Amino acid sequence: MKAVVLEEYGSIEVLQLREIPTPEPAKKELLIKVQATALNRADILQRKGFYPGPPAEYEIPGLEFSGTVIANGDGATLYKEGDTVMGIVAGGAYAEFLTVHERQAMAVPKNIPIQEAAGIPEAWLTAYDALVHRGNLQAGQTCLIHAGASGVGTAAIQIAKILGARVATTTSTKKTSICKELGAEVAIDYTKKDYVKEISQWTNSNGVNVIIDLVGGEYLTRNLQAIAAKGTIVQVGLMGVGKPEIDLGILLQKRLKLIGTVLRSRSQQEKIDLTEKFSKEMLPKFTDCDFEVYVDTTYSLSNIGEAHMRMEQNLNIGKIIIEIP
Ligand SMILES: NC(=O)c1ccc[n+]([C@@H]2O[C@H](COP(=O)([O-])OP(=O)(O)OC[C@H]3O[C@@H](n4cnc5c(N)ncnc54)[C@H](OP(=O)(O)O)[C@@H]3O)[C@@H](O)[C@H]2O)c1
Repeated sequence: MKAVVLEEYGSIEVLQLREIPTPEPAKKELLIKVQATALNRADILQRKGFYPGPPAEYEIPGLEFSGTVIANGDGATLYKEGDTVMGIVAGGAYAEFLTVHERQAMAVPKNIPIQEAAGIPEAWLTAYDALVHRGNLQAGQTCLIHAGASGVGTAAIQIAKILGARVATTTSTKKTSICKELGAEVAIDYTKKDYVKEISQWTNSNGVNVIIDLVGGEYLTRNLQAIAAKGTIVQVGLMGVGKPEIDLGILLQKRLKLIGTVLRSRSQQEKIDLTEKFSKEMLPKFTDCDFEVYVDTTYSLSNIGEAHMRMEQNLNIGKIIIEIP
């Protein structure tokens, strides 16, 4: 099969297609013909050598996929040949084929095109887990989502709305309108405005109940000001600059929770548990047309380098899809 194999780390030139053996499904696994994958920030860090994948004979990036089941390993009975599925993997999705535990796969919603579905697993599982399980966001509460126009952000806005929460986001100038279209009540252009002041006005000086922070860096100090008493800050990403400084006095006084989370390093059982909860609670909402996979652009696997450049330059709004014919 053809796959992008990292034989060295560095600029986009290291993303080369190689011919390598097609994997075989182990017990309880599915062999998938990958039809699309989608880009994640972690792929860029991995390419540069800052976030190596799990040990494997071939280091193939790619954390999510959509595709067709073409064979079942021993005891894998949940899907049959020809079923369309999607899911998260610890790596290996920049390839024509991959194997995955059957319980880590989810059925592609009927009304979502198969390529678009590749944009669901990583961003939507991350956003769902951050809001529901880590943040415990409740109907009627307020939520601030940083980097609202990112892949994770576009999913998080929609999930928070479905939960009945009121949503504010931060993003750069050209992306504010998308955040509002997706359901944010307030989209703060962080290049022009101080989000702490804006949030204070929006919440009548109460602060927000939950912050989903994809940025980090010096945002931590300001998040402590923007959060309400007994609020929860969920640290999901670290794209930001500046030194995070924490005022422990505010942490105590407001009785805050600061929670870090990551998907890739979770055990297989934890990934299965999350996939199954998401499938039950959120997946039907794609078919009911409540949820939109916000697709930025689509590239072919042979142009994967250009796709990396687009993400590195912060040009994307929502997900960058990579088709694998
Ligand atoms: N913990 C997990 O399991 C997990 C899973 C998935 C993703 N993540 C993390 O979540 C973050 C978002 O990922 P993604 O794939 O959704 O990203 P994405 O689609 O590439 O979007 C990222 C956006 O964030 C904004 N941004 C970048 N640097 C910034 C900075 N220094 N300050 C403020 N905004 C900045 C940019 O939008 P603007 O134009 O608005 O600035 C950029 O387009 C990443 O840090 C990623 O590693 C974590």
